Amino acid sequence: MGDQVKLNAAGTEYDYPVLKGSVGPDVIDIRKLYAQTGKFTYDPGFTSTASCESALTYIDGDEGVLLHRGYPIGQLAENSSFMETSYLLLNGELPNAAELATFENTITRHTMLHEQLANFYRGFRRDAHPMAIMCGVVGALSAFYHDSTDISDPEHRKISSHRLIAKMPTIAAAAYKYSVGQPFVYPDNKLSYTGNFLRMTFGVPAEEYEVIPAVEKAMDRIFILHADHEQNASTSTVRLAGSSGANPFACIAAGIACLWGPAHGGANEAALNMLKEIGTPDKIQHYIDRAKDKNDPFRLMGFGHRVYKNYDPRATVMQKTVREVFDALKVTDPLFETALRLEEIALSDPYFAEKKLFPNVDFYSGIILSAIGFPTTMFTALFALARTVGWVAQWNEMISDPGQKIGRPRQLYTGPTQRDYVAIGQR
Ligand code: SDX
Repeated sequence: MGDQVKLNAAGTEYDYPVLKGSVGPDVIDIRKLYAQTGKFTYDPGFTSTASCESALTYIDGDEGVLLHRGYPIGQLAENSSFMETSYLLLNGELPNAAELATFENTITRHTMLHEQLANFYRGFRRDAHPMAIMCGVVGALSAFYHDSTDISDPEHRKISSHRLIAKMPTIAAAAYKYSVGQPFVYPDNKLSYTGNFLRMTFGVPAEEYEVIPAVEKAMDRIFILHADHEQNASTSTVRLAGSSGANPFACIAAGIACLWGPAHGGANEAALNMLKEIGTPDKIQHYIDRAKDKNDPFRLMGFGHRVYKNYDPRATVMQKTVREVFDALKVTDPLFETALRLEEIALSDPYFAEKKLFPNVDFYSGIILSAIGFPTTMFTALFALARTVGWVAQWNEMISDPGQKIGRPRQLYTGPTQRDYVAIGQR
């Protein structure tokens, strides 16, 4: 008999099995709790709840560890590519050279959009937020592919996954082009996944666009850092939407909508806007004081994390990448100094130390993206581009689990008990 925990409810004792993973916290299997006790657990925000079993990504928040299929994010960021990391997340193992070449070739040949999709962009105002466009256009993809809608067929799931990973750069680049009134640039199959994205974003028909290798490498590394992150809010949204058997493109559109929030993927845009508002280091203490004030809703954007109570390992790589991009582009940005100083002051303040608030993946990313030439409104769209591989990998893992059921949480009801209708004349 494996480990058990005992629960005493109204004088009756119940045993619940403890399940062990390969690493990380054990879980108490309470699937029979309601049937046996008539009681629910209560965990708004899911701070103590494991929603599923997964073999994709492991995070140790206390140690600042992030593994994708067992490989540390620092090693992947240093040695891998976004395409190789995508293959790893989807298939469980690093590819050999032939497998990687085949995968990249497959993705490359799905980067074009159906020409009708261009019409969807023209329905938006030019100043529409790129995340609004991403929600709309990715959701619209669910109306375009009738050849692969049987999600119980692994081949249909595979082609949908490849289409989503392949088309997100084209969709995101087109959202940027639309916002600046420039023509869309079609994919160039001779380029890498990330080089192709940079050319579709910053290239113009009148000129040859030359991909700068250092920028391509930094962009590709940023994609790796954003690929997947366990059961975060947007991934849980994709899983919940997918648990009803919904169209995969529609499920990813739901994930994009959730990621947009400033508490989640929208924090990279909010963090750079915050640094711009702070401006110079002498203003930092005022904002630190505001962040500590319970009566002030202001928070340090790019700081804190539900899981990391240590430094986000992605932020470490991101900070290093800032210097590489600045050197490659021979640029600098005073906001980087402000960010470094803000981090130093915050981490020496007891409030942040006690609450274990450290910079997260969103704190430095905006400085790099801004240096490369992206407007702040594009930052979360880039996060969504990269996280699509994590979303589809998690969606595939869930759909292929024979024991998967529709997600349907219960509640603690605190509304009125039953009462009779009162005619309007008697109210
Ligand atoms: C991402 O989940 C993921 O994996 C997400 C992500 C991914 O890859 O998918 O890692 C991407 O979303 C990163 C996080 C980006 N968000 C931000 O940077 C926004 C700013 N951070 C916070 O809003 C907050 O830290 C959260 C939302 C990230 C986490 O919130 P929690 O876990 O619900 O923590 P909390 O709000 O309960 O905060 C605990 C305490 C609170 O104080 P008390 O009520 O205990 O007195 O810490 C305080 C908070 O007020 N706090 C902050 C703070 N973050 C938390 N105070 C000031 N500034 C902050 N940034």
